[in-house]
Amino acid sequence: MNVGLVGAGNMARALARGWAQPILCTDSGSGRARALVEEVGGEALPSNRELGLRADVIVLAHKPAQLHTVATELAEVAAVKPVVSLLARTSSQAVREAYPQAHVFQIQPNLAVEMRRGVSALARPDDECPPEHAQAVRELFARVGNVVEVPENLLDVASACSGVGPAYWALLLEAQADAAIRRGLTPAQACALIGETMAGSAELLRARNWDTLAVRREVASPGGTTARGLAALERGGVRAAFSAAIDDVLG
Ligand SMILES: NC(=O)c1ccc[n+]([C@@H]2O[C@H](COP(=O)([O-])OP(=O)(O)OC[C@H]3O[C@@H](n4cnc5c(N)ncnc54)[C@H](OP(=O)(O)O)[C@@H]3O)[C@@H](O)[C@H]2O)c1
Repeated sequence: MNVGLVGAGNMARALARGWAQPILCTDSGSGRARALVEEVGGEALPSNRELGLRADVIVLAHKPAQLHTVATELAEVAAVKPVVSLLARTSSQAVREAYPQAHVFQIQPNLAVEMRRGVSALARPDDECPPEHAQAVRELFARVGNVVEVPENLLDVASACSGVGPAYWALLLEAQADAAIRRGLTPAQACALIGETMAGSAELLRARNWDTLAVRREVASPGGTTARGLAALERGGVRAAFSAAIDDVLG
């Protein structure tokens, strides 16, 4: 299946690296499409129109602001093909209006697709989408991680959890590492200890069916040091901070 990526930025690069197959790709003149295909194989094309003609599935990996400019070049040749929109905070109605004849899918992946450990929120496709297109799109994203289907009206909420997630976890790693460096660990030691703890804890939580309370209780004995650390994090407002973050992301 020929995958066409419109855009060669952060998300396009992460997906292409995760798929590890030749792709068709465009950019707006930066040369990033050429650099990407030199890395993963495939062709950087001179126009979105040519990409639309040659790709079997078209992935919109440009910014939301470019929806109409790109659709002007692409919509006619994309007709009846699957068009996968990655555009954050852009309704399916807006994408369907821009691509009236295409079969539009809305997906919010995250940067961890590069490691094939991403999670992609997929809005439930509408009934007019042929099942073979829906299956092909789902399989494409399943190759680079988990796919979680959500009702379309919750896609933004999903993205505010998983799409933004790698940045949140990077900040949490940095904050904890800074504290450890203040107490004497080198940055390399701190990052290895904390980062590996994050990765291992995620595996453990998955194995325990995401039962966060059970895992916390196994680490934090009553009156013990972990309980004191957790209380300090609660006093610091960790829950309120995440609550405010999702509200600010969703506006
Ligand atoms: N980054 C994430 O973690 C993430 C997560 C979920 C969803 N998304 C969504 O993914 C999309 C891309 O995000 P990003 O972070 O990858 O953005 P980005 O790094 O800014 O990349 C955008 C790409 O679009 C290209 N582009 C702009 N206009 C174009 C045009 N007319 N034709 C072809 N290509 C064009 C740019 O070309 P140049 O290289 O020439 O500038 C650039 O390569 C956004 O809609 C975003 O909402 C991103």
